[in-house]
Amino acid sequence: MSLYASVRPLAFTLPAETAHELGKRVLRATQATRPTREALEYAYRYDHEALEVDLFDTTFPNPVGVAAGFDKNAEVTHALAALGFGFVEVGTVTPYPQPGNDRPRLFRLREDEAMVNRMGFNGHGADRVRQRFEADGVPDVPVGVNVGKMNTSSEREAIEDYRRVFDRLYPYPDYFVVNVSCPNTPDEFDEQSPEHLRAIFETLEGENDEDKPILVKIGPDSPEESVLDLVDIVEEFDLDGIVATNTTTAREGLESANQQEWGGLSGKPLTERSTSVIRTLAEYTDGELPIIGVGGVDSAESAYAKIRAGASLVQLYTGFVYNGPTTAREINRGLVELLYQDGFSSIEEAVGADLE
Ligand SMILES: Cc1cc2nc3c(=O)[nH]c(=O)nc-3n(C[C@H](O)[C@H](O)[C@H](O)COP(=O)(O)O)c2cc1C
Repeated sequence: MSLYASVRPLAFTLPAETAHELGKRVLRATQATRPTREALEYAYRYDHEALEVDLFDTTFPNPVGVAAGFDKNAEVTHALAALGFGFVEVGTVTPYPQPGNDRPRLFRLREDEAMVNRMGFNGHGADRVRQRFEADGVPDVPVGVNVGKMNTSSEREAIEDYRRVFDRLYPYPDYFVVNVSCPNTPDEFDEQSPEHLRAIFETLEGENDEDKPILVKIGPDSPEESVLDLVDIVEEFDLDGIVATNTTTAREGLESANQQEWGGLSGKPLTERSTSVIRTLAEYTDGELPIIGVGGVDSAESAYAKIRAGASLVQLYTGFVYNGPTTAREINRGLVELLYQDGFSSIEEAVGADLE
């Protein structure tokens, strides 16, 4: 039995958000000194050249990253890199601090290996995150910053929100993600309307002196037509990719009592839906637009399915909560085996292998 398998039942007696905060405190303490960080690396990192992905003008040591929401305030990026993740997406970062929704707002659906959250963009704000990047530096794997607006912002104020976070954090990440798909923040206006998206991208384009990659994160619940409309806008602005997908408001086929909680569902039940969105995107763009696949990744097989459907990289959050610190290592080991079984010598060869 792994250490995590014996600790997990205890951690799962705590409210989910408390356990998350405790876990982050342990990670923060572990990354604070070089010997403890190196001990993590030694135990958990798995390197293999077949796993390397060249994208966004940088090299990802492996395609398995941490999804937005886990490290909203850039507190544990070094520990996550030491645990063997190939990249870390920080955020969602809002321009100013924000408390988010009332607690409890994060729920485990144990029987379904899923979670429901309605965090509501709680976070320390762009200035604190900037200070943390300044103090801690960035880790030795690529970093993304996921950018969001304040919950109370009007459509016009939202544009200024994205611009502010982008400007404050501009020097640090390898890529930015504009998050217009959170299902648990207030619906003040249609965040995915073409006019609004155009206004955001025009503004960020004007500020993007160094041509940093900008991606958009989409949800799994929109009709195919509106997803494809969004892709047209992404191409119109020559953006760099799409993160697919955010959590879902759907609740089919679940067993756990907590399915009644409102918010976004993540984890295993989201797997097929998000892979199908990835496939649709990859087919529509002929595999030309980079896709970061996210939703229910918890094993080499589930990561590989997203890669074969067209994702160049994958990310996870819920799978990490259920599988613990060995998650990245086990997925990466398994991916190397799956690649070789299928006669591929690298991840890059397998991207989109299932497309016609
Ligand atoms: C507690 C929690 C908080 C999240 N917060 C964010 C967020 O701030 N921004 C974002 O883009 N996605 C957020 N997500 C969504 C994840 O990044 C991811 O898209 C989703 O959980 C599906 O992946 P998973 O099944 O591996 O968890 C959050 C997810 C969870 C569970």
